[in-house]
Amino acid sequence: MAKTAKRHKCLDCGATSARWAGRCPSCGEWNTLVEEASLGPLVRAVDELDLSGMPVPLASVDVSEAAAIPTGVDEFDRVLSGGLVPGSVTLLGGEPGIGKSTLLLQVLAARAAAGHRVLLVSAEESAHQVRLRAERLGPVPPGLLILSTTDVAAVIASVVEAAPDLLVVDSIQAVAVGEAVPGQRRASGVPGSVGQVNECADQLIGLAKARQVATVLVGHVTKDGTLAGPRALEHMVDTVLSFEGDRHHALRLLQAVKHRFGPTGELGLFEMGDQGLNRVDDPGRLLLGDRLTGVPGGIVLPALQGRRTLMVELQALVAPMGQAQPKRSVVGLDASRLVMTLAVLDRHAGLPMASVDVFASVVGGIKVGEPAADLALALAVASAATGTALPADLAAVGEVGLAGEVRQVVGIPRRLEESVRLGFRRVVVPASTPDGPSGLELIRVDTVAEAVTRFGLHSGR
Ligand code: TYD
Ligand code: MG
Repeated sequence: MAKTAKRHKCLDCGATSARWAGRCPSCGEWNTLVEEASLGPLVRAVDELDLSGMPVPLASVDVSEAAAIPTGVDEFDRVLSGGLVPGSVTLLGGEPGIGKSTLLLQVLAARAAAGHRVLLVSAEESAHQVRLRAERLGPVPPGLLILSTTDVAAVIASVVEAAPDLLVVDSIQAVAVGEAVPGQRRASGVPGSVGQVNECADQLIGLAKARQVATVLVGHVTKDGTLAGPRALEHMVDTVLSFEGDRHHALRLLQAVKHRFGPTGELGLFEMGDQGLNRVDDPGRLLLGDRLTGVPGGIVLPALQGRRTLMVELQALVAPMGQAQPKRSVVGLDASRLVMTLAVLDRHAGLPMASVDVFASVVGGIKVGEPAADLALALAVASAATGTALPADLAAVGEVGLAGEVRQVVGIPRRLEESVRLGFRRVVVPASTPDGPSGLELIRVDTVAEAVTRFGLHSGR
């Protein structure tokens, strides 16, 4: 029997060699080789570890698999900054009847038409009902598969079997983990219960990752607008989209609330028609289409929504106080900014606001959270309070500080371009604003008081 040579290990690079040397043959460091037997048991145990879970240089991480694949529905892709990432899980929330099923059927059809195999799991509607809806939307491509079931085990089996690269589950509240399936954990409760939604989402997320199938889960929202089921659902998925709009109007807004693969500010705009959802090419005209001009309380704001600039109408209504406490109410605006704006108007512009009810809203279901809306809001409220209408061709943009000063905002060139494009001739802007596009008069103001005076809004009623 051959005598085994004592192995030596380099403390620096970890390479082993059969005999001792002053210099490691592998990394070239001096005096780093030690006899293996003299290493402690912990060091020797390291050799037996599985090193696949070790840190790697961030720069060497492969990003090709994280690349988003366009679905072919432009506005949907825009919100997702490109499309759906393989293996990612997206939750699409929205009120009943807003068009979630329609949107996703269009996404599935577009992907299938591009030659992919896609699977719709319909837990709420029969295959027959879905087929009828699909007919309305256009030709039904052969790669679009449907499974009408509420059983997650059946979903998993068909994904393994059919290997689609896009899976839609409509909805997460309607599916359940069956108790009869051997080896499966028991989830208690009926479909839609916290336990079931959690367990089903857990299983489907595992499936998405294991099979690299992009997965979209439909989620219902409760009356107050939050997703039904466990709050943790939003943390479990990669992306949360919200689909909103007034059911009685055609405009639908798609926004990312959370997105692991890109920015969230982007807004997708659709119009619900007879043949499904169409992208809105000129939202400015649609949003301002029904505007009443010459009425106190209204003004237009060039608002930024992601990479988009939207001309949105702000409206204010000021009424004598109805109760002991003055009421402040907003739709689509930040309530605390309204309160601040009222304080500034009261304190710095001589408009008494302490004993009136004030309502303010953004028309069209758009949400404006940016401070750049302050000046327009202040002018709308002042116009409503004094019963003096603002000119129809006037827009306003600027942040208002607590001292009543008007501050510069981001993206002013884009905002001014869009204003002229939609026919506005004058824009009230912060004093430091550089010249805008030709054909647009800039009314530069230092303070809210100056803006209010300029349009004769300080007279009181
Ligand atoms: P749906 O996608 O079923 O909504 P959700 O899944 O969010 O509950 O769509 C609901 C509404 O959309 C329904 O009232 C009918 C309307 N609709 C159209 O106006 N045009 C169409 O082409 C389609 C398919 C639906
Ligand atoms: Mg539906």
